[in-house]
Amino acid sequence: MQDAQPKTIYLKDYQVPDYLVDNTDLHFELEPKATLVKSQLKIRRNPEAGKDLPPLLLDGIDLELLSVAIDGSILSQPTYQVTPQGLSISVEKPEFLLEIHNRINPEDNTSLEGLYLSNDMYCTQCEAEGFRKITFYPDRPDVMSKFTTTIVSPKDHPVLLSNGNQIDSGYCEDGRHFATWEDPFVKPAYLFALVAGDLQHVEDTFTTGSGREVKLQIFTEPKNIGKCDHAMRSLKKAMRWDEEMYGREYDLDIFMVVAVDHFNMGAMENKGLNIFNSACVLASPETATDSAFQRIESIVGHEYFHNWSGNRVTCRDWFQLSLKEGFTVFRDAEFSADMNSRAVKRIEDVSLLRTNQFAEDAGPMAHPVRPDSYMEISNFYTLTVYEKGAEVVRMLHTLLGPEGFRKGSDLYFERHDGCAVTCDDFIVAMEDANQINLTQFRHWYSQAGTPVLDVTDDFDQAKGVYSLKISQSCPSTTDQKDKLPLHIPVKIGLLDQSGNDCVLNSKGNTEEVLEITKSDQVFEFSGFQEKPLPSLLRDFSAPVRVRYPYTEKQLIFLMRHDSDTFNRWDASQRLAFLALSKLQKDYRNGRALQLQPELVEAYRDVLSNTALDPALVAEILRLPSEQSIAEMSDLIDAEAIVVAREFAYKSLAEALFPELWAKYSELNAQKPYDPNAKDIAERSLKNTCLTYLAATEKFEALELVQKQFEAAENMTDSAASLSALINYGDMQKSDSAIQDFYQHWKGDTQVVELWLGLQSSSARNGTLNKIKDLMGHPAFEVRNPNKVRAVIGGFANRNFKQFHKEDGSGFRFVAEQVILLDKLNPQIAARLVVPITRWKKYSKNLSEKMKAALQHVLDAGELSPDVFEVVSKSLK
Ligand code: PHE
Ligand code: ZN
Repeated sequence: MQDAQPKTIYLKDYQVPDYLVDNTDLHFELEPKATLVKSQLKIRRNPEAGKDLPPLLLDGIDLELLSVAIDGSILSQPTYQVTPQGLSISVEKPEFLLEIHNRINPEDNTSLEGLYLSNDMYCTQCEAEGFRKITFYPDRPDVMSKFTTTIVSPKDHPVLLSNGNQIDSGYCEDGRHFATWEDPFVKPAYLFALVAGDLQHVEDTFTTGSGREVKLQIFTEPKNIGKCDHAMRSLKKAMRWDEEMYGREYDLDIFMVVAVDHFNMGAMENKGLNIFNSACVLASPETATDSAFQRIESIVGHEYFHNWSGNRVTCRDWFQLSLKEGFTVFRDAEFSADMNSRAVKRIEDVSLLRTNQFAEDAGPMAHPVRPDSYMEISNFYTLTVYEKGAEVVRMLHTLLGPEGFRKGSDLYFERHDGCAVTCDDFIVAMEDANQINLTQFRHWYSQAGTPVLDVTDDFDQAKGVYSLKISQSCPSTTDQKDKLPLHIPVKIGLLDQSGNDCVLNSKGNTEEVLEITKSDQVFEFSGFQEKPLPSLLRDFSAPVRVRYPYTEKQLIFLMRHDSDTFNRWDASQRLAFLALSKLQKDYRNGRALQLQPELVEAYRDVLSNTALDPALVAEILRLPSEQSIAEMSDLIDAEAIVVAREFAYKSLAEALFPELWAKYSELNAQKPYDPNAKDIAERSLKNTCLTYLAATEKFEALELVQKQFEAAENMTDSAASLSALINYGDMQKSDSAIQDFYQHWKGDTQVVELWLGLQSSSARNGTLNKIKDLMGHPAFEVRNPNKVRAVIGGFANRNFKQFHKEDGSGFRFVAEQVILLDKLNPQIAARLVVPITRWKKYSKNLSEKMKAALQHVLDAGELSPDVFEVVSKSLK
């Protein structure tokens, strides 16, 4: 907890480490409340840092120091000194062996950083700065060392795992047993991992391109052993894909994955021993939804891909986090696109970016992809670093083309293998491999904010010349006022009046990437008889907003004809947004609400278009979420957004009732469950239809929902119908469905999490009180982040209506929970507070109430640096 105001750390202050650690030998004797850690570090003065011998500073938090020795002699104070942040040791020679003994308490570690217990399993989480909660160490990513780890434990924890290869194991005289692991690759401490428990595993093998056999193991608690197959299949696909697309082979003889129930994030790429949040690895057809299946495939891929983009080549300092995360998210997105529907994957990713990352840019914690300062690094595992960072890498891919990009990545891996490097090193590799200059492109790493492209066009009938004028600008962000023009790839096409793509240049291309580098640029296209319609920013080729004065007619035309699937969807979003804005205005002006008939017809058209991928149809039909409407608004009028969207949704449902019913019936085929792209697409559209039908609250529609709920043989159908009952069913039926579902699934942690989330995101009045009751339910566990995220996070992030109640009750509730949670798990608390930090964008009443809730958190005092940073910055 906070002693004084936490310190701000700046990128510009970076200095190379004073000392290096060539070898790290760790010895653990596991006990729930008193684990003994002995470490032997072979330390050497860093020649790059100088020749003098400054004190050796080691990080260490919540550690009980037992002894310190150098080259076998025990030290006494003041040769070493304990500080609140660690240990300072006087040094007399440039090379020595340091031996430290300390004790830690895994059982009471609720922060889930360092070594902790999940159910009865010991596990570690060291990124970013968790290793310092295990032992005293230079806990920074540019100190890379060879690790050997011995774990000693009572036999009730038979499985003992760490990074690399097991080189020894056996029994101790006192009846305990041990295992020793050696990782031949150098790594920073954040990639260290240890697991000990009563675990079972599934096993498989993978033969690499060069013919080496790798053993693959997935470990879980015994009750979950039947839920590992999908992750195993995903892992093997990912390993093959990385060989084919990037020429990267796996490098150890064994690759292990462990599922744990208590985890702050999705998963962690520890060398050779990935640790996963159970929700991101365990699945069976009966218990997991389609989106869970897809999430698992992408996260298994993501963590595996880190073996090269993150582990073999790692970050010099935490400001460079996007070096590994942006690149790896790009890699996993392409992997998922190749395994499933590319267009739908792109739409999902862009929706997330536009709804949440754009909001980050517009909010109090705005920061560039490479931040230049932080108080608490855990707060910077953000959508900007991950998702916008991935978009920046994608733009490089667009600018260089697939071959150029591959040449760049090959050079990057070759040059920096075994090193801790910077985002700039990545760019330099791309430049050198392609002999181009990316000086201006680099601003994407240093400049926060969402750029805006204002596009206008003109047609010279006499000359047959069509011109596009594109101006770029970027609004100020809280961290930076003035912005420089960026290098932006804008992929475009031009449609003729029958909806076909026009030829754009002498090469006969119908698509072109315009490179925007100046504030204003004009691009001309010749040989036209009639004015074409522009399809701008195809495939979302840059993370920007595009403003072009499309009419509703033009948008409907693009929805029908654009050859770029992404832009078809985007046109539907723009169209819906126009309609919803108008409804909001009418509501505020006391006018009767009416949905434009053109919108209804456009939706009818999409629903009946059998040439479209059903998943895409579902994406188009679903209407923008309240959150994304909010993000597109200059001033958020939450109540009007809710009224407008509910009205539009219900009106569409009523107008299209027969078509929705027919589509539902057509797709409701009873076939065995398989999470392949085609079936997932059909279920997605089917359940979208079902939810629309339910929104009419007609008797026969609710009967249909009830029927699906009772007959469902997979979790996708089951959850969709339960959600429809919760939101639209009559109270009694809804309550009994909730109870039945729980009785059936209470033994399954992942399903219970889903069940909690469906209830907390119910738009029904009274949900907040139900949530308070749920927190007393045996299924809720305040120390389990997944449950907290399902209940409190579900409310704050996925229940726009109830969270934004005009009386401020939603904000106050979340603020109270943040204060309580901060004592247990600061990282989780700091994430939960984010939805109330965007108060400046809301209309007066809500804005004041949010601000008061934030002030309440600040006034609680004794905040962690995590929560303090977010709250104090957002109150400025
Ligand atoms: N490095 C992990 C990933 O993105 C995320 C993570 C960060 C997990 C911090 C735990 C703690 O793959
Ligand atoms: Zn990652």
